[in-house]
Amino acid sequence: MKKLMMGLATMALIWTAQAQAAEVTWQKDIKPLFAKHCLGCHGEKSPEHDEFARDKKGYSDKNIGMRMDSYSHLITYVGWPYTGALIRRLDDGTTRTDKKPGNMYEHLGANDVERQANLAIFKSWVGSWNVKRWSDVSKEELNAIKAKF
Ligand code: HEC
Repeated sequence: MKKLMMGLATMALIWTAQAQAAEVTWQKDIKPLFAKHCLGCHGEKSPEHDEFARDKKGYSDKNIGMRMDSYSHLITYVGWPYTGALIRRLDDGTTRTDKKPGNMYEHLGANDVERQANLAIFKSWVGSWNVKRWSDVSKEELNAIKAKF
């Protein structure tokens, strides 16, 4: 019995270690994904959010988005101040209230299989896939965000 208990405890430890190793992080998973699919329009030469907002149409017409190339930039589109923006834009329509895909979903891949696979990675990174804005989100919902560096 004691042996069995110890065996179970060891297994539990291994499982925890594996789960931690598999944890999705910005450095390991999101950065390369972003580099491949998003950086072209959201790189270091792109304007900061508020700079972009001054000439939304001008930048958009040139296919220039706002800068999101670092962890510090991207997190502002998940947590605060642009709460849920990343989620609203990347969602495939499942979570959005209008049930339509967000307009950045198409950039996630060349076909739906790739888009879904990459969406799943973004989802596990964020941890709590919530489309709400700052005005509607609760403290509990914010607390559920993982978005590890
Ligand atoms: C071809 C250029 C292009 C690519 C590639 C692209 N974006 Fe965008 N993105 C834009 C432009 C331009 C805007 C601003 C216009 C708009 O709001 O739709 C934007 C807006 C956004 C916003 C909204 C930010 C806000 O303030 O609400 C998010 C979030 C975003 N993009 C994320 C991404 C992610 C993540 C990827 C990669 C999967 C990506 N984008 C790929 C051009 C691009």
